[in-house]
Amino acid sequence: MKRIIFSGKGGVGKTTILSNLARLLARDGYKVLVIDCDPSMNLAMSLGISLDDIVSLADDSAHLREMLGSHMEEHDEHEMECTEEDLHEFILPAADGVRLIVMGTIPFGGAGCLCAPISLVRLLVNYLASDTEEYDFIFVDSQAGVEIFGRGLASEFDLSFVITEPTPKSLEVAKHGLKLAGDLGVKRQIVVVNKVEVDEDLQTAKRELDGNAQQIMSVSYDQEVVEADKKGALLLDYSPQSSSLQDIMKVKQFMLSVE
Ligand SMILES: Nc1ncnc2c1ncn2[C@@H]1O[C@H](COP(=O)(O)OP(=O)(O)O)[C@@H](O)[C@H]1O
Ligand SMILES: [Mg+2]
Repeated sequence: MKRIIFSGKGGVGKTTILSNLARLLARDGYKVLVIDCDPSMNLAMSLGISLDDIVSLADDSAHLREMLGSHMEEHDEHEMECTEEDLHEFILPAADGVRLIVMGTIPFGGAGCLCAPISLVRLLVNYLASDTEEYDFIFVDSQAGVEIFGRGLASEFDLSFVITEPTPKSLEVAKHGLKLAGDLGVKRQIVVVNKVEVDEDLQTAKRELDGNAQQIMSVSYDQEVVEADKKGALLLDYSPQSSSLQDIMKVKQFMLSVE
């Protein structure tokens, strides 16, 4: 099972790329679980799941933490054991067999930071990695910026996708993300420069990221993505022949070709 983290500045296209990639992989027969760690909970919408149907991890965090915590610490057999049954209420089915887990949002103004819910996701991912063969890929979508790395969630992850636009601000966030994922020992990193309009955009990004990334790929700027978003549809359904989806397919091929 491969654990993969997506990071980058807000609005660069993390959720768009992740959700299309997840469904493409699922169509190839892989079992894919996506975890939305963005309190804005956009990933569910991208995957066509109504927010009303979601039971998030935060909705039942105390119980879940107790189960996962005691399970991972391997207390004696009288302690509560976590089984996949226990997780069922949190696992939502999406198109093509993709499964979604939502971390949850901040329930009210002043409710505090995301440390606790992110640490719960960390427990959950560790449990899934060590105790089940259920999934081939776990994708973690993060909120804007690099906070996700500060919580150590991605340590022991296999791959980090750093998504960026070809703009100085977004490339700065990308560089920081690459460094932090490297600090956590993430084995491999792929930068995807999204919304590339002309070749010079990609060249600028490559110059700026020189030496910081193992692989840099691009996804073209595509009005079809915007139109799909306006319709509340995913690119894959709305415009399967679009240029950006072809680029995302190349990203998928490359991802599968690396260990
Ligand atoms: N390749 C693309 N071409 C044009 N617009 C895009 C592209 N990728 C994403 N977008 C648009 O950018 C906006 C932000 O995308 P989103 O995936 O939500 O970003 P993030 O998850 O990084 O915040 C959305 O309005 C989306 O339609
Ligand atoms: Mg997003």
